[in-house]
Amino acid sequence: MVAVPAMIPALVLNVSGKLITPGMDLREVLKVTKVPLPDLLERETLVEVKAVAVDSTDLACLQLQKKGTTPGFDIAGVVVRSSSGAWRKGDRVFGMVIGGLGSTLMHGYDRKRHSNSGSFSNYARVHTDFLVRLPDEVPFEAAPSVFSALVAFQAFNFHAWPPTKISKGKWILITGGSSIVGMSAIQIAHLVGYNVITTCSGEHLDECKAMGADFAFDYKTPQVDQIIKAMTGDSLSFAIDAVSRGNSTTTAYKAMSSAGGTISTVLPREERIALQLDDSELKKNSRISIEMKLPTTLFGYDTVWHGVDYYPSPGEHHRAQRFLTSLGDWLWQKKWVPLPQTVDQEEGIDALVHAMERVRTRGTEGKTLVVKIGKT
Ligand SMILES: NC(=O)c1ccc[n+]([C@@H]2O[C@H](COP(=O)([O-])OP(=O)(O)OC[C@H]3O[C@@H](n4cnc5c(N)ncnc54)[C@H](OP(=O)(O)O)[C@@H]3O)[C@@H](O)[C@H]2O)c1
Repeated sequence: MVAVPAMIPALVLNVSGKLITPGMDLREVLKVTKVPLPDLLERETLVEVKAVAVDSTDLACLQLQKKGTTPGFDIAGVVVRSSSGAWRKGDRVFGMVIGGLGSTLMHGYDRKRHSNSGSFSNYARVHTDFLVRLPDEVPFEAAPSVFSALVAFQAFNFHAWPPTKISKGKWILITGGSSIVGMSAIQIAHLVGYNVITTCSGEHLDECKAMGADFAFDYKTPQVDQIIKAMTGDSLSFAIDAVSRGNSTTTAYKAMSSAGGTISTVLPREERIALQLDDSELKKNSRISIEMKLPTTLFGYDTVWHGVDYYPSPGEHHRAQRFLTSLGDWLWQKKWVPLPQTVDQEEGIDALVHAMERVRTRGTEGKTLVVKIGKT
């Protein structure tokens, strides 16, 4: 391994994110800039970045970032050094950082305790607990997305990990099974023992089944909610809305048992409702609750988004860490199916703005867009 330089190239936002407008050319606001190599703090690991994922969340979060911060949540690379001793130089790892959101979303954010920079850089500081060992035979660019896996994991609201045994035949509905969060949610649900039903893009029915869905329906199927309600015998009490768009929450709501239940969503009410067809449907049954969590709380901070506070729940950091150990084991045991992905033909930090533009104009097309950063 070559010596680590004191100044490293990173993609940096050169205006306040609030000034970014929907049609703005991202090349005007994101520049590759040399920044000082970050100092390592307690329980942090310095990773030489080899591959990152670019998705719609990176774009959406740009508007929440401060000037001078670096976007990017997912990371795969090689450990340079670790302050906790948990990782050794040369370990191949994948994991998650908080994508430059720290000082804007997290109450009492302590710059000295956590990095405010994302993964779109040659080197990144990663919380030691949010790294997972990558098997030698898995290339960096095929590393699972820890970000979407953690968003999915939180949506289950497990009180322990491993979770208490799921009773045989218990149903879960995952709407938006073909989103990056949905594919992770399907796999978790299947591996812990749920009977999994999903609604997803018609193109991805087989993929969702390969990931563990027992039944997959095109979300455009007429009366899909009533089909699900009938097949579950009006017993569905838990759903994860992994896309929170179009009719996804209303489908989960209408499929839910008349005795009530819980729907976990991935967008807050304001954003979700703006994208839903009919909010009035979501108010009819007071026994159905709609909840949401944010992965930033896993880092121990209260977070405020759209005026709503999200608090870390007791033990959730520890449970998430244990879950990531299971994710690593599932990968070794080949039980975890990597999400479909496209590897960008361009490589390096310079390719990232173009990759973000591509996601903005074409969407992710049901695949994670991966950009190789360093030589592998
Ligand atoms: N809370 C968080 O921290 C967090 C983190 C990451 C992502 N998210 C959110 O998670 C959602 C998914 O993100 P993504 O990047 O995976 O999205 P994506 O790549 O755009 O995937 C969306 C997928 O869901 C399908 N879909 C669209 N509308 C649907 C509906 N009504 N019912 C069922 N399936 C539907 C789409 O199929 P078609 O293309 O055929 O329509 C597509 O396959 C987004 O809303 C994102 O903002 C939240």
